Amino acid sequence: MTWWVTRGMQRTLDALTTVASEVLHGHLSARVTSAGGGAELDTLAGAFNLMAGQLEQTEATRRRLLSDLAHELRTPISTIQLYCEGLGDGVLQWDLATERVLTENTARLARLAGDLDDVSRAEEGRLVFDLAPVTVGELIHSAVASHEDGFAHEGVQLIADPGPAHDTVLEVDANRLGQVLDNLLRNAQRHTPPGGTVVISAGLTGDEVRISVTDDGDGIPAQHLPHVFERFYRGDPARDRDRGGSGIGLTISRAIADAHRGGLTATSGGPGQGASFTMSLPQPPRRRTRRPAKGASQLR
Ligand SMILES: Nc1ncnc2c1ncn2[C@@H]1O[C@H](COP(=O)(O)OP(=O)(O)O)[C@@H](O)[C@H]1O
Ligand SMILES: [Mg+2]
Repeated sequence: MTWWVTRGMQRTLDALTTVASEVLHGHLSARVTSAGGGAELDTLAGAFNLMAGQLEQTEATRRRLLSDLAHELRTPISTIQLYCEGLGDGVLQWDLATERVLTENTARLARLAGDLDDVSRAEEGRLVFDLAPVTVGELIHSAVASHEDGFAHEGVQLIADPGPAHDTVLEVDANRLGQVLDNLLRNAQRHTPPGGTVVISAGLTGDEVRISVTDDGDGIPAQHLPHVFERFYRGDPARDRDRGGSGIGLTISRAIADAHRGGLTATSGGPGQGASFTMSLPQPPRRRTRRPAKGASQLR
């Protein structure tokens, strides 16, 4: 009997030792299989497998991030390189067109560096927030103010409708939330053809404020919807990249909303049906009505 029990334990422990050593040497897909050592050892083996699974997933994300990043860097760098060579060989002249290409591509690299910095800080919870009271109306109007000209230029109507949440005071980092709304409006404009409409509205539900940016443009196919918040995800890589997107905007936006104990979600009826992005934010327990806001004046 003792021999039987000990043999089962011994086998499971041996398996654990072997697999631990495999994982240590980078074989992250190695898993322990139960050798009948009893419930406790099975639980231990299960926990070990869970940990190995987590490590494998983190490693896969890291690899994907690095290869995406390399891919993102390659295009602007090789363009700059080509132009520099062309200028050096006298094949290209320094004119407005050359200057535009070089400026655009260096700007893309700079933006990428800034975005990456933000996304890694956000994901590790290292973004610093400067919380101050601000009303929903102020958030919406200041976001709209910086986009009005761009929308008018593209022939897309931009409507701000804070509704009953207009005077609701939030305790948030207005600059960071401005960054979120800025990205949502920029995306909406980019995906709405001339003659379309984008509405930025707000609503109150229970203890939450919801700010939505809704367009009647391109829409998002159902199979793409779960991925739009992933790093470097672009629905149409060539087109979205040409229009200056790095595919990180929504990743950062969601991280900022999450850090405010809120969230960011997307819905769409499908291609051609428009899209709607909603940021939810908790209302502070007190101060639900307007007060002279300290941070507010900076926003106007
Ligand atoms: N309003 C929208 N309508 C349609 N597709 C959208 C909209 N907003 C975002 N998307 C899709 O989500 C992708 C990721 O958005 P984002 O993270 O902001 O990256 P970027 O703007 O740099 O492409 C976009 O490339 C696009 O395919
Ligand atoms: Mg974007």
